[in-house]
Amino acid sequence: MKTQDDLIAAYTSKRTKSLEHFQRAKQVLAGGVGHDLRNFSPVPMYICRAKGSRKWDVDGNEYIDFLLGNGGMLLGHADPETVDSINQAVANGSHFGNDHPLQIEWAEWITKLVPCAERVRFVNSGTEASLLALRLSRAHTGRNKILRFEGHFHGWHDEVVHGFHPPFDADGSLGVPPQVRENQVLIPDGDLNRLAEVLQSDQGIAAAILEPTGASWGRVPIETEFLRGLRELTAKHGVVLIFDEVVSGFRYSPGGVQELSGVTPDLTCFAKIIAGGLPGGAIAGKAEIMKLFDITGDAHHDRYERVLHFGTFNASPPSAAAGITVLRRVSTRQPIEHANRMADLLRGSWDDVLERHGVAGYVYGDASIFHVYFETNRERIDHATTRRDLQTRDAKLLKGIPGALLTQYQRHLRLRGVDIMSGTGGLLSSAHTEQDIIEATAAFEDTVGALIEEGLVQTLE
Ligand SMILES: Cc1ncc(COP(=O)(O)O)c(C=O)c1O
Repeated sequence: MKTQDDLIAAYTSKRTKSLEHFQRAKQVLAGGVGHDLRNFSPVPMYICRAKGSRKWDVDGNEYIDFLLGNGGMLLGHADPETVDSINQAVANGSHFGNDHPLQIEWAEWITKLVPCAERVRFVNSGTEASLLALRLSRAHTGRNKILRFEGHFHGWHDEVVHGFHPPFDADGSLGVPPQVRENQVLIPDGDLNRLAEVLQSDQGIAAAILEPTGASWGRVPIETEFLRGLRELTAKHGVVLIFDEVVSGFRYSPGGVQELSGVTPDLTCFAKIIAGGLPGGAIAGKAEIMKLFDITGDAHHDRYERVLHFGTFNASPPSAAAGITVLRRVSTRQPIEHANRMADLLRGSWDDVLERHGVAGYVYGDASIFHVYFETNRERIDHATTRRDLQTRDAKLLKGIPGALLTQYQRHLRLRGVDIMSGTGGLLSSAHTEQDIIEATAAFEDTVGALIEEGLVQTLE
């Protein structure tokens, strides 16, 4: 049996330049990397080029990419039309600090595609989008509290940093004022009775925010029935309903989960695909609420009557140009349908691998997303007759796969040329091909075999 040390030795022997980069990075980058999820042992990835469904690191290792810029690259990397539109915008001046025509066209596409989008306000990221949506909701209702759901992720600002990773009642970060908790109500999703009780008993709730895919881009699936009930109950109690469609927007359908489910929120948060692979985000929603951005009098003196919002790079021309190109293509549905087909193929092929090896786990996901659940709870395994018996919607289980298993899983996949998103899953693009799925499935099969041998993945007897 190969040991973990053997794997690390094999991994690093093909990554000598990456190791050199890591040595330099540790001297100058706080935390050694640019994003907590880019941390990786024994060495982070340093990518220097990407095209379509593939990317290459500084050592020349090639990867089939299911990370896709954290979900932003629906058309794959360096899509020629998107690159042309960005180049054209930059050639005309990359940033003015003034409004410009592209921003209006970008907003028009969003209002055309997204059911709730009567007005749009651009920001620079998903984190900024949820921050602004919460401020707007408080301004609109005159209430302070925010209703959140365990496991759902909305970025890294103070208001949303607790509660997305189990144990859900633990602090998510140092440095967050304790008062933040006084304004938060955190409950599990899926339970409409509990939701009704909370909304009935607490009149101070301004907004309810959730990922309508279910927590963590669908890692913890949610029922459409719950979204319907949530819509009814929030409307009844005058609570602003915010869908965080930062991942699902323009991926699940041109109008996101809200188009597919027929449940229309009051506000929606966007980032990632909306800006075509460049930094950018937006909130969109009902004119009745978004009117709080309107300047009715003197812009310098009416701030007590409205919601203040600045941002040097809001709707920057290159992001707008890339966003328009991608949304125009999304409106045809073709990129979404292709990515969905490839994801279907991947989910089926990877689940067959688990079936062949009798692994206690299953592959799941919607649209162009996949997740893998590896069951590690001995009691649940002992009680299961078939893999189907392991299916669950419990956020603590689905988000509680041990870190040691996740790291080793990712190491094996990367060694075999496959990169995924955080956790066990990933996202597909319109650039992925059947050949990608065949190769990725071979890598997954070898990975699963190795993990069984290492005793990290369990089988059903
Ligand atoms: C659902 C969701 N909301 C918000 C965010 C935060 O977006 P950003 O990383 O652009 O700040 C993310 C990021 O992955 C996300 O998945």
